Formats: sequence, structure tokens, C-alpha cells
Amino acid sequence: MNLDNEIKIRYEHFLNFVPKVMEFLTITQEEADLDIAYKGETDLVTKADKGSEERIIDEIERMFPSDSILGEEGTDKKGSSVFKWIIDPLDGTVNYSHRLPLYCACIGLENQENKEVVMGIVPFPAMNEVYHARKGQGAFKNQKPISVSKTKDLKQSLLCTGFPYDREKKIDRLTFFHKNFLLKARGVRRIGAAGLDLCWVAEGRFDAFWEEDLKPWDMAAPSVILAEAGGRMSTYDGSAFSSYVPNLIASNGFLHEKMVERMGDYRYDLN
Ligand code: IPD
Ligand code: CA
Ligand code: CA
Ligand code: CA
Repeated sequence: MNLDNEIKIRYEHFLNFVPKVMEFLTITQEEADLDIAYKGETDLVTKADKGSEERIIDEIERMFPSDSILGEEGTDKKGSSVFKWIIDPLDGTVNYSHRLPLYCACIGLENQENKEVVMGIVPFPAMNEVYHARKGQGAFKNQKPISVSKTKDLKQSLLCTGFPYDREKKIDRLTFFHKNFLLKARGVRRIGAAGLDLCWVAEGRFDAFWEEDLKPWDMAAPSVILAEAGGRMSTYDGSAFSSYVPNLIASNGFLHEKMVERMGDYRYDLN
């Protein structure tokens, strides 16, 4: 088996398939009835999350039946091939349910032997844009190359963050971070869809991003897009990035050490 070729086949197939996912998400958001259910007080799930997962999984099973699949809405399939799909069928569900157009989907492919993400596709329906990258081949938005910003000074940076669903016992740390970054940067934004946050660091709209309590499906697909766009990712204390470690700093590279420093002692204490 030629691994690169197998990855390319999956990548190209899904680049052709994602317009269907975008159409489904757009039409479903326009309908009045989202059938909202609650996983937690602020953690929602709608019929669009489930419908999108179903569509993506069906396509993977139809085309690549021996691959493993992990999806946020309950899919956990072990297959015999080396590949594992890591899927967030709708990232930004709270935005989606409030009719904000800031949502995407994250479709990542991992090589299970070394846990490396080898390709990522992030469709952004509101703009009819697709962010995509294959390891070693550069990062793109709708086939046009993208790259991170060149900002080297925090004072000129636009940062982005996200707040975990479970925020009560974390509120002191979240407040510390906010104050610490807000006083140093040009601005801090909270978009509400980790996939978009990371793709927007990849294309230089944001200079850096941080968030804790992220899941593999939030990070896998955009991580390869950001890496291919020249960005850097690590945990809060600067250790190596993994889609399976929930706290993340993502940056244009130039600001990375400064971001780690500004986490203060909290970078070692995430309880
Ligand atoms: C959430 C979004 C949000 C982030 C949360 C994620 P979901 O994903 O990415 O921006 O703050 O941590 O769980 O639940 O909308 O797919
Ligand atoms: Ca969710
Ligand atoms: Ca998500
Ligand atoms: Ca989701």
C-alpha cells in the first residue's frame, strides 16, 4: 500500500463531498426547528449535529469501510486499516442554534501508527469556503495557499480564545488569562468555533489562540491546516501538541514563547 496515495484518495474524495455537508448545514439552520437537546447546561446538540455526523460517517463507510472513525456525536468504530477519521460534524453548535453563521465542520484523518494527523478539511458554509491541507503539501482555502501572520509583537496582535462549557470551577484561571492577554494585545476575540479559530490563525487573521478542554475532533483537522500554513501548536506549558491533550496554544510561531509565558503559573496547573 502506498500511504501517500491512500491519503490523497481520501483527501480528494472528501474535498468533493463537503459541498453536500455545507448544503445540509445551511438548509437545516434556515429551518425553524433544530430539535435542541442538552448535554450540559450550555452544551447543546441539535438535529444538525447528528444529521451531519450521519452523512459524513455514511460516506466514509461507503468509500473506506476498513477505516476507523471517531465522531463527536457518538461514533467510535474500530477498523482494520491504518487510518482513523476524527470528525466534528458541527463545530460551533451554540452559534448555530442562535442563527449565527460562525460554524464549520472538522474532518481529520489520523495515521493510527504514529497518531499523526495527515489531512484536514474544514468547510465553512456561511462563506462557501473550505480550508484544507494534506501533510507536506501546504495549506489552502478553496485551493488558494494560505499562511500565518508575521506579527512578532503582542501589542500588535489580535488574539482569540474560547471558554469551556464547564466554566464554574475554572473561572479564576479564565479571568486571569483574559486580563493577562487583554492588557497586552490589540484585542481578544471569542468566535465560538474552535475549528474556525484555528483556521483563522492559519490564514493570518488571528495571530494566536488559546483554549482548554478541547477534544480531538476540535483540533485534529485544523491542526494540520495550521501546521502546513507555518503555525505552531503546543500545550499551555509549551509541551508537544497532541489532538488528545485538551489544552492548546496555537500561534503564528513568532509569538509562541510569549503566549506560553503569559499563561503564568497556571500553565502548569490546570486543575
Ligand atoms: C465547541 C466550540 C467552542 C469551544 C468548545 C467546543 P462544539 O465545539 O468549538 O468554540 O469553545 O470548547 O466544544 O460543541 O460547538 O462542537
Ligand atoms: Ca458539541
Ligand atoms: Ca467542536
Ligand atoms: Ca460539534
